[in-house]
Order: sequence, then structure tokens, then C-alpha cells
Amino acid sequence: MKNINPTKTEAWKKLKEHYNEVNQLQMKDLFAEDEQRGSEFTVKWEDFYLDYSKNRITAETKQLLLKLAEECKLKDAMDSYFGGDEINRTEGRAVLHTALRAGKEKNITVEGENVLSEVEEVKAKIKAFTNEVVTGSRKGFTGSEFTDVVNIGIGGSDLGPVMVTESLKFYQNHLNVHFVSNVDGDHVHETLKDLNPETTLFIIVSKSFTTQETLSNSTTIRSWFLRHAPQDAVAKHFVAVSSNVEKVKEFGIDPENIFPMWDWVGGRFSLWSAVGLSISLAVGYSNFESLLEGARKMDEHFKNTDFSENIPVQLALLSIWYNNFFEAESEAVIPYSQYLHRVPAYLQQAIMESNGKSVDRNGEKVNYQTGTIIWGEPGTNSQHAFFQLIHQGTKLIPADFIGFKHSLFLDKDHHNKLMANFFAQTEALLQGKTEEEVRAEFKEKSLSEEEINQLLPFKVFEGNKPTNTILIEKLTPESLGKLIAMYEHKIFVQGVIWNIFSYDQWGVELGKQLASEILTEMENNAVQNHDSSTKNLLKFFIK
Ligand code: F6P
Repeated sequence: MKNINPTKTEAWKKLKEHYNEVNQLQMKDLFAEDEQRGSEFTVKWEDFYLDYSKNRITAETKQLLLKLAEECKLKDAMDSYFGGDEINRTEGRAVLHTALRAGKEKNITVEGENVLSEVEEVKAKIKAFTNEVVTGSRKGFTGSEFTDVVNIGIGGSDLGPVMVTESLKFYQNHLNVHFVSNVDGDHVHETLKDLNPETTLFIIVSKSFTTQETLSNSTTIRSWFLRHAPQDAVAKHFVAVSSNVEKVKEFGIDPENIFPMWDWVGGRFSLWSAVGLSISLAVGYSNFESLLEGARKMDEHFKNTDFSENIPVQLALLSIWYNNFFEAESEAVIPYSQYLHRVPAYLQQAIMESNGKSVDRNGEKVNYQTGTIIWGEPGTNSQHAFFQLIHQGTKLIPADFIGFKHSLFLDKDHHNKLMANFFAQTEALLQGKTEEEVRAEFKEKSLSEEEINQLLPFKVFEGNKPTNTILIEKLTPESLGKLIAMYEHKIFVQGVIWNIFSYDQWGVELGKQLASEILTEMENNAVQNHDSSTKNLLKFFIK
């Protein structure tokens, strides 16, 4: 990929000037001036309707942002991404989660090998295993069918599967799926409390198979299991997903029960691989395939659609507009579906582990902002929690609103209420409420002039708060696949333009290293040299 400092491009300079001209514009004036605005800044694609008209942009902003993408050679970077080039240069790896859903008729090579045949082999293994467990033909050590599945993993080996199984709970079969991630022993023991070892299947998911949390939890679970079962029962109840086959074998897992994954799939983009085994078990293999199919369709849209109509590209450029020109500090993601309640947490890892970088692809400190801070919760709950700050706080918080045309239980009354809030919030954020409007309302309620003047400033809403509306026909495995892939590509586009490496995560190493040193000190009751704060805290803890 090219090394281009985005701030040195012509487009960036023009965007700076343009920002000075338009940053005071009121979106509601833009809507008043142009009746077509609500259809101009939209993309309708398959079952997705993206409306980005409620943003602080004009047609010129859009053109300049597209120019920025062009000058940063986004198209070439996309060819490298989909083509399997080593774009994760600091780890010497390709980034090919897209290959996991590409379909067998394609040809994607890594070091001269077509990786798609391996992908298909693993998919066949996931399918066979899923069918055996779901139909009950694969049984536990006492001959009972499995009722529960526990996914043991953390980060990308947890958040993707948790988010998808929660999102697709409506489609779930009889298997109960649990997730153990935190090294906090209370997490694993709380989970084990209600489980029957005879009917529980454990999936250890760790790409590296060296992650402290996952290995500790797996060891604790295996000991618990062996208190109730003979040694040879482990082979029936434990499977692993990893690219470190040797370590998995050392742990005592039957090689037959290893689902491979590859270096060219990053942890946080791995739910499409065997890391998604718990998803396949929870909703059945055909639904897992539909999830992949949705992602594949979004890949095709991203690859083949002109940038001006390209959903991930548009979302990425808008995010750059706010992050780098308006200096917005964070972005909110508000799904109006309770099923999607783990989507913001999933996106926190996907986005912040990818683009939380301050060194560019030349190895130089960047002199501009990169990765956005992501947060959110489902609507309408979030309206009663943090929306106050979005409406009337001092910070600019661009937000994605995700909603569905149809609910899954088809409760029209609830769904209308939910969606009325969905539309009302983006409109309120856009319109705000002026002094005149507030005054008129007060007058109607017959408040005195004195009362009105006292309350007025608190009741005014500035408005002009940007939102994207992503309205989807229905929450299905396929539409969820599209949605996740949409954000994956948004991350990629932003990383390309910010000239950073999005697919490594060296920033998590230092803490891990220190934790291991501190653990040794704690176990030996010998606190070593630390800053005086850490030293005192450790002494207090050990005592
Ligand atoms: O948080 C760092 C990280 O390496 C993530 O990128 C990854 O998803 C997670 O740890 C788990 O790693 P593994 O699958 O190797 O256990």
C-alpha cells in the first residue's frame, strides 16, 4: 500500500478551507434550501437504506472527501486487501477475512497457495460437527445428547461469536450457548455453576493458544470436568479452534477435534472462520452460511460500487470529516433492536484495536487524529441514559442509528413505538428547538414572562447534530452479515486514509508483559521495583 500522509494531499487542504466555510451551516437550512436533500444523500442497496443526509455536509464536502479517497489511493489499497497482499506489514501477514466468505469458485492465493480449498474444508468440518451436535448424533461421555455449549476465548475469539449469537437469538435452536472470557474466576465459576458436565460441550477458541485468560479458564474448566468424568471423556467434550496446533495438542485435545484457522485472519475479524463454531451450533449451519453470504454480498458491493454510492466508503469518509475537521472525539452506534445489544462492544474492539494507532505506515508519529472512540447501547434504553448529553452536551457526537423495518415477533404495536422513537431522535438531533419555539410552547401553557425567561435557556436544543440512519428490512443472518462486513470495510477505508496499519495490535502487549511479571511477584510475595503508586497498591493487595 502507498504511504501517503493524508494532510499533504490537495483534497485535505481544500477540506480545511471548506470546513471554515461550512462549519457554521445549519443542516435544517440545508434541508429547507434543497427539497431533494433527503433523497440525494442516500444509498439504497438490497435490503439496506442508508440515509446520510442528516450530516453537516454539502455536495462539495462529498466531492472533496471522495477526492481525498482517490488521492490516498483507496482503490489500489482495496485491490491489495482483497487480493491477499501482506497489508498487515508489521506482522508480515495478509488480511483475508473476506476469503472466508468468498465462495469456492474464486481463487485467492497466499504465498502461492489458493487458500479457498482449505477454507472449504474447514467449513465442511464445521457443518458436519454442527449437524452431529444439533441432531444429537454426537453424544457426551455418558451417551447423553449435548444441551449446552461453552465458548472459551477472549477479544476476537469471544466478542464476534457473542455479538452474533445474541443478535441471532431469535433463530437459535435448543442448544444453550455460554461464553467465558474474563480471567476473573467469578466469570468461569458462575458459568459452571449451572452446567452438567455430561451434556456440555466446550470450545476453546484461541488463535495463538497462548492467551492467559483463555488458557486459565480452559484449565479450570478441564479440572472441573475431570472431577465428574474420566480422563478419556475430554476427547468427547473439548474441541479447539486455533492456528497453533502443537499447543492445542499439548493441552490434551484430540487432533480430530481441532478446527484450524490461519495467520491471514485477524482475531477481531475471525467470526467467519471456525471461531464462529459456537454461532453455527447456536443457529445451525445453514444460518451460519447465510451470515457469510450476507458478508460476501457486502464485500461485492464494496469492491464494485462507485465510491459515491459505496456504503462503507461513505460512512468512513463522514467519520473522517468529523474526526479530523470537526475534531469530534467519539462516535455512537445506537441499534434500535435489543438483539443487537452487543454490537457496540464488538465494534469497540473491531474499530479501536484496528485504528487506535499513532504511528503512520512510515513509522512516523502522525500529526493528525486517527481512531475514533466508539460507544453505544440499544435505543430506546439509551434515550433514557446518555441521550441528554448528545442533545444538549458540549460535545459533538456523530451517531449511527440502526433499525429494522420489520420486527421478528411481528408485534406491530411495539415495533411502531420503537421505530417512532428511532425516527424522532434523528429528527430532533437535526432540528433542535429554538428559543422562539420554546417561548411559544410556554406561552401556550400560560407561563408568566418571568417564568419563561428563567426556564428558556435550559429548554433550548441547539440541534444540528449529525446522524446516519441505516434502515434494514429485517434482522436475519444475512442482513447481520452485511452489517458487520459494512463496518469491517469502514475500518479498512479509514486505516488506508489515515496511513496507519489497521491489522496489528501491538498496543495490547505491554500490559500483558507487566501483568505476567507482577503475577510472579504476587505469587512469590516479593514486590519488586515499581513506581511508588504501584508498589503501595501491590503491598496493600498482598497483605
Ligand atoms: O487483545 C489482543 C488479542 O490478540 C486480540 O486481537 C485477539 O482477538 C485476542 O487477543 C485473543 O487472542 P487469541 O485468539 O490468540 O487467544
